[in-house]
Amino acid sequence: MNTESVDRILIIDFGSQFTQLIARRLRELNAYCEIFPYHKVTTELLQKMLPKAIIMSGGPASATQATAPRPPREIYDLGVPVLAICYGQQIMTVDLGGEVQSGAAESGARTSEFGRAFVDQQQPLDLLTGWFTGGQEQVWMSHGDHVSKLPQNFNVYSYSANAPFAVIADPARKFYGVQFHPEVHHTPKGNKLYENFLKIANIEQNWTMTAYRQQAIQQIREQVGQKRVICGLSGGIDSAVVAVLAHHAVGDQLTCIFVDHGLLRQGEAEEVVSVFQEHLKLPLVFAEEPHLFLNSLEGESDPETKRKIIGKRFIEVFQKYASNIEQVAFLAQGTLYPDVIESVSATGGPSETIKSHHNVGGLPDELGLELVEPLRELFKDEVRALGRELGLPEQLIRRHPFPGPGLAIRCPGAFSRSKLDILRRADAIYIDQIKRHGLYDEIWQAFVAILPVRTVGVMGDGRTYDYACVLRAVTSVDGMTADYYPFSHDFLSETATRIINEVSGINRVTYDITSKPPGTIEWE
Ligand code: XMP
Repeated sequence: MNTESVDRILIIDFGSQFTQLIARRLRELNAYCEIFPYHKVTTELLQKMLPKAIIMSGGPASATQATAPRPPREIYDLGVPVLAICYGQQIMTVDLGGEVQSGAAESGARTSEFGRAFVDQQQPLDLLTGWFTGGQEQVWMSHGDHVSKLPQNFNVYSYSANAPFAVIADPARKFYGVQFHPEVHHTPKGNKLYENFLKIANIEQNWTMTAYRQQAIQQIREQVGQKRVICGLSGGIDSAVVAVLAHHAVGDQLTCIFVDHGLLRQGEAEEVVSVFQEHLKLPLVFAEEPHLFLNSLEGESDPETKRKIIGKRFIEVFQKYASNIEQVAFLAQGTLYPDVIESVSATGGPSETIKSHHNVGGLPDELGLELVEPLRELFKDEVRALGRELGLPEQLIRRHPFPGPGLAIRCPGAFSRSKLDILRRADAIYIDQIKRHGLYDEIWQAFVAILPVRTVGVMGDGRTYDYACVLRAVTSVDGMTADYYPFSHDFLSETATRIINEVSGINRVTYDITSKPPGTIEWE
């Protein structure tokens, strides 16, 4: 499919953690959209893109401030439908002559809402067709400010206890503002709202993953030209998809580099080399550099420093191996949206840093290579769909995700080679147990972390003073939110017994029952 011929939706990003979820909902509805940070939405962009509808995201700023980020005024004169979410709703209100207040209302009542809330219908609205069939509807709110006075020609269509203007609209101009987030799973009818918006905007829903693949290949071809590309493989699905896409795009201008940083799981290096060389038949350089990484990590306990060290070493290794390949100008990598959003907003807008994911952090300018990141806007399950589209082996597609910094971020506290060895053996047993019990495909990701604490135990008749470890297993759709997996007690006790019996150095096993949020999936 040629992207010139599809109906385009412009998403204006104000730095919400959920902006990509909006895009994802639209892709699920087979609609084509592009995200731009608010400051990149220029007249030229609007003329080039000719959006058929506009969505404004939420964001951390306050519309009550004079310096609040805003869209260009001309978006309101294009004659296209606008859906404005949370901060988007508030800034649209201010732009069109209404008012927004921070914190407490004049009555002294608190008007912020975080988390689950319930909205009631005030009057019917095309955007909410299919809602309110059983009375109140559940939505997900995350706002401190609220709309306090409507712009001219706007009306209220729905309200919640703390948001009297939960849904506002000027139906004649097709401008809609919602205070809640219809893109998150906790707004169960959110998809219906997007579906209604697509109908209102008369958007043809003909966008598919096949089209995404073609577009990604085309974009790589245009970006790379006649130059050479190197691609960092991690053994996981993301970098494999990037490598195959790049190979389709530029053939033997591509060289894949697989770095063994000494932080891989048991047997992983051999497995990766065989899949890429024998199955996928991609040109591969195997860079065995464990000492470089392990020496610089020894004794380090700060999670961010560990990530930065690994990122830095990766670059050095890449530089070393790339210097043997003539005319390399590009580095292709499998950065996904969750890696990006937790480091900085994907589109360059403002969002909070949670972790410096190694494939986005530590990339010094002197690297001298331009990045090719065709998965930057996708979620894990979408990458799996793309992998199937590209014909990758099912075993690779189903593999649990594994983080770039590897086992180093599963050794909280001071890093040491001896702890790493213990961890690697325990992890192999845990994964073996999960496979033996037929649970591997039900679980999104499972691993062991070794704790920075030794505890007293008794084995045989002797005292032990060994490490405790934690088992982690989560279910998730996209890695953005996750629940712990409810293993049976029998499974947990059998696994704990095996680990303690078979791994010297561990005498206590615990199970992590934290969801995300408030935890993250990895421990660091
Ligand atoms: P968290 O721990 O942030 O992890 O909830 C979400 C998902 O991302 C993986 N992860 C990473 N992947 N580079 C990666 O390629 C990284 O630096 C990184 N850190 C976390 C994590 O394993 C989980 O699947």
